[in-house]
Amino acid sequence: MKYRAKPKFVLNTDFLEAFNPVQKNKKATNNELFFNSGRNGLTFLLKFLKVKSVGLQSFNCIAVLDAIKKADCNPIYFDVKLSDFSISIEELYKNKKDPDVLILTHYQGIPNLDYLEIVEYCKSKKIILIEDIAQSHGSNINGLIVGSQGDYSICSFALDKPFTCFEGGSLRMKQKNDALLEQYSKLSSENNKKAKIDIKKVKFYHFFYTEKNYSKNLENKKELWEFLLHYFTIHSVFRIMKSKLLSAILYRLIKVFKYKSASEEILRLSKFKINLVRLQRGRFDFNKNNAFKIIQDFNITLHKDLLRKDLNIYWNRLSVLDKSGELSKKFRQNKVDCGNYNWPQPLHTINNVNKQFQQTNKFVNSELASNYILNIPCW
Ligand SMILES: Cc1ncc(COP(=O)(O)O)c(C=O)c1O
Repeated sequence: MKYRAKPKFVLNTDFLEAFNPVQKNKKATNNELFFNSGRNGLTFLLKFLKVKSVGLQSFNCIAVLDAIKKADCNPIYFDVKLSDFSISIEELYKNKKDPDVLILTHYQGIPNLDYLEIVEYCKSKKIILIEDIAQSHGSNINGLIVGSQGDYSICSFALDKPFTCFEGGSLRMKQKNDALLEQYSKLSSENNKKAKIDIKKVKFYHFFYTEKNYSKNLENKKELWEFLLHYFTIHSVFRIMKSKLLSAILYRLIKVFKYKSASEEILRLSKFKINLVRLQRGRFDFNKNNAFKIIQDFNITLHKDLLRKDLNIYWNRLSVLDKSGELSKKFRQNKVDCGNYNWPQPLHTINNVNKQFQQTNKFVNSELASNYILNIPCW
C-alpha cells in the first residue's frame, strides 16, 4: 500500500536532466509565467490588476488568503457545494455586490460543476476570473478543461501537487498582456543554489516516500529532512531520519531556530525547476490514476453529482466526506495514510467576513467540509 500523495510523473533520470536538458526546451510560451510559488504568482497578478475585492471560497488554502492580503485586497468569502467543494452559481447570485475578481478553485481534481455558468456570469458582470488549478490538471466537464476558460489561472508545483519542483508555481493568461509581461521580466530569478536544493528535496521525496522506506517519522518531521538536505546527501539524511533518537533531538533544535523554507519575495522560477516541471508534464497520462480502483476496492460512494456522464475527474487526492469516521478507520487498518490535509479551518473563521459585500455569514458547507473531508492518496 502506498502513502500520501506524491509525484506521479517523476522519473529517476529527471534529476540530472533538469540541469542538462536532452531536448532544448522550447522558449517559455509567453502566456505562462513561472514564479517561486503559486501564492507569489497570485499576489503578483492581483497587484498588477490593481483590484480591491477578491471573491474566494472559504474552504480554501490559507496561502491563497495570504496572497490576497499581501496584495492589499479585501477577501469576500463564498460557501462551497458538498459535491465538488467549490463555489456554486447560486452563491454568486445571492451576493450583495460583485467582487472585482473571483478565484474559482477546482478542488483536488474535481472540476467545478457550475464551471460554464460561472464563466458566463463573470463575463456578463465583468468580474475577472482567476482559476485556481493548483490541485487539478487535465480534468474536464462538458468538454471544458479546468483552467481553460478563466482570464487567468494559477498553478502550484509544491510537493503534493500534480507536478512538482518542491516550491514553485505559474500564472497563465488567456490573452497575452504585454504590460504584465514587462512587469514580470523585471523580477529577479531564484538563485541556482536554492533551485539545486529544491530539486534534491524532490529527489529525496521520490526515493524515500515508498512502500519500503516510508515511516511516520518522515512525514511528521518533514521540516527536519528539508533542513538537513541543505547540508547532507539524501542517503545520509535518510539514515538520520531512521534514528528515532537523533531525529527527535535535531527536530527540537530546528524548531527552536524556526526553520522556514517558503520564500516571501516574489521571484521568477529557476530554469532548472521549470525543466523539472516540464519533464513531468510531458508524461501526463489521464489513465495513470488509481482513484477509481480505490473507489471500487473500498466501496466508496461518491456524491451523486459526480456521476455525471460529461465529467472526467483526474483525482489529485481522492477526497470525500467521512462524517462517521468509518472510512478513515478502514483505510488506516489497511495502512493508507489518509487524513484531512486540505483544509481543516475555513478561512472566514480566520479572517473576518466583509459585511459590505456579503449577504450571509453562514458557511455551513465549508465548515462541514473542513470537519469531515478525507483526503486519500491515489497515484
Ligand atoms: C488550491 C491551492 N491554491 C494555491 C496554493 C498555493 O500554492 P503554493 O504553495 O505554490 O504557493 C495551494 C497550495 O499550497 C493550493 O492547494
